[in-house]
Amino acid sequence: MDCFNAISGKTKVCGIIGDPIEHTMSPVMHNAAFREMGLDYVYVPFRVAAAELEKAIAGMRALNLRGLNVTIPHKVSVIPLLDSLDTTAEKIGAVNLIVNDGGQLTGYNTDADGFLRALLEHGFTPEEKKAVILGAGGASRAVSFSLARHGAQVTILNRTLKRAAEMAEWLTKEFGSGVTVAELNENNLGSALEQADLLVNTTSVGMSPHDKETPVPAGLLRPGITVFDIVYNPLRTRLIQEAEAAGAGTILGIEMLVFQGALIFTRWTGKPAPVALMRKQAIKALGYEEK
Ligand code: ATR
Repeated sequence: MDCFNAISGKTKVCGIIGDPIEHTMSPVMHNAAFREMGLDYVYVPFRVAAAELEKAIAGMRALNLRGLNVTIPHKVSVIPLLDSLDTTAEKIGAVNLIVNDGGQLTGYNTDADGFLRALLEHGFTPEEKKAVILGAGGASRAVSFSLARHGAQVTILNRTLKRAAEMAEWLTKEFGSGVTVAELNENNLGSALEQADLLVNTTSVGMSPHDKETPVPAGLLRPGITVFDIVYNPLRTRLIQEAEAAGAGTILGIEMLVFQGALIFTRWTGKPAPVALMRKQAIKALGYEEK
């Protein structure tokens, strides 16, 4: 039975707020998961302009929505509108999930833990490993926080050195261990990657429609390094393809999307998420058939 035909007065309503929202894959992933698990939930996208955020959150309370995902441009500005924050969201300073427990709105950030779970599921434990992170934007904040928290030695390379330096200062204050920074260029990449166990691309370089681009020259990739490109469109970026060809380990960006989605599913429903199904649906929504 189609889940939308089964919507009733008891159905719990979840969704996502952002602007733009047309390309989100979350509804497909979550509705399939609810259906698979036989849960009376539905997930809908809401396009909410920045100026309407306050009203949208008041609406969430009034309509008694069970939960909302939060995406660009609301991840930071939503914080003062909530009743409480979990520690990770507070430290990262961004919320990607709101849970409504009987009128009490709590903000979470599942990006950091979604990234970590994707790493662990692929057999990579960050403790004492040398990790090179490309980029110093919002996504890098969650990734570098997660790696530093779990004991990796972090190097951040960014086009704009100042942003990387600010991030390093924050992480050092938070965890006490030193974080190395440098400008993102071939020279610095070369020396950082010589010793690295893990390379994470959090920049938008290589993202569709610029999928012929890569942030790392292929000649710097080698066996013994795991390459995690958090770009998931295209599914296999040029960086991932060249890493595979060089004999490096690879983790696709879709894995972070799926595992942060799985954490959200469990927060809302209290049930383990059907991860394989969520991955299949996300890949399908991207326009690919799973191999
Ligand atoms: P997100 O929230 O997805 O991380 P963001 O905060 O806009 O988005 O950050 C984008 C990241 O990609 C930044 O690190 C940016 O580098 P700058 O800080 O120098 O802007 C990086 N980036 C984007 N386009 C890039 C390019 N063509 N070359 C190198 N880095 C790029």
